[in-house]
Amino acid sequence: MASVSRARERSLLLVFTMKAQTAQSLDQLGVRFPEDLARLFSELRAEFDGQAGVMRDEASWTALRDAWLGRKAGMLAAITANWLKPAPVELKSAVGVAFNALRTHVDTVLAERHRAIQAAAEQTALAREHLDLSLPGVMRPVGTRHLIRQTFSEVERIFLSLGYQVAEGPEIESPYYNFEALNIPEFHPARDNMDTFYMETHAGQTTRLLRTHTSPMQIRTMEKRKPPVRIIVPGKVYRRDNPDATHSFMFHQVEGLAVDTDLTFRDFKGTIEYFIREFFGPSTKTRFRSSFFPFTEPSVEFDASCIFCNGRGTGCPKCKGSGWIELFGAGMVDPAVYGFVNYDAANLSGFAFGIGIDRLAMLKHGIGDIQMFFQNDVRFLRQFP
Ligand code: PHE
Repeated sequence: MASVSRARERSLLLVFTMKAQTAQSLDQLGVRFPEDLARLFSELRAEFDGQAGVMRDEASWTALRDAWLGRKAGMLAAITANWLKPAPVELKSAVGVAFNALRTHVDTVLAERHRAIQAAAEQTALAREHLDLSLPGVMRPVGTRHLIRQTFSEVERIFLSLGYQVAEGPEIESPYYNFEALNIPEFHPARDNMDTFYMETHAGQTTRLLRTHTSPMQIRTMEKRKPPVRIIVPGKVYRRDNPDATHSFMFHQVEGLAVDTDLTFRDFKGTIEYFIREFFGPSTKTRFRSSFFPFTEPSVEFDASCIFCNGRGTGCPKCKGSGWIELFGAGMVDPAVYGFVNYDAANLSGFAFGIGIDRLAMLKHGIGDIQMFFQNDVRFLRQFP
């Protein structure tokens, strides 16, 4: 750049001297013979060529054109006025010929240079806009649905096909819904393993806790709807469990509740077994073991034949040799619960279950540690697209 502008400075200086020359008459310049004339014109042409040579852009091209061809102040106008017109008769035609040659030269060179400048500008623009289609594309990694979410969907699909509806409820609950209305009075030992995350409250505020199971939604649903009821409730629950391979302070359940005028233990068993075979495969065997929950009577723990050893047991580390895997708690709704929601216990019956989703997913996919679900390591998550 610096050299270009220095070159331009020099040429401006020359223009100045040439300009001064063209301002004078041939006589004043001492030009008497055609040889002098030829020298004069060749100096002029060299000067023009020099200026044309440093021209790089549209603006300098326009400046050069005006300097030479400008109607009033242009070099050629000055020559016409000061040399050509007042030329002595014996030089007139020679001046005319030289002048025309110079003019043709200026015209041609200017036109050529203009084409070159425009072509160069176009080239730069093209280069700027050029799309390199050979570059690798921008990779946007597509995520997958979390395995817990996928398991929820699978459980929902099965129960929806049985005519159940999906309901959702609050994770922050009152002790009434989490305990009392589920027939768990204060100081009942069944509260012990669930008396966990209470919110800090100020005087006069009602006690709140993080729900320890999805069962409060049994009550909330029956309060709002008349029987018959068939719902499942997917959601998060919280307990004061120390984290290890099978425990987490937060995990997932799907609650189920069916209440109608004629539901029996057979409907209960049939529903649960249907679900298990849909979820784990048709050859899975199931069994009930008696258990206790204050809000179901009778209560059961539900087991499925071990999917790792096909129920054989011997030597299987997953079921610890028993051939069975404990799945979840369930039972027929305890009539005492109907009393809390103004349901007619004499004419209604039903069943409820609470499926641990994390456990179900671990069993189905052979995952050994519940913590994997919450660490968000993509190497783990990517295995379940
Ligand atoms: N809410 C119980 C639990 O979390 C499970 C359960 C649900 C048992 C419904 C019976 C009926 O342990």
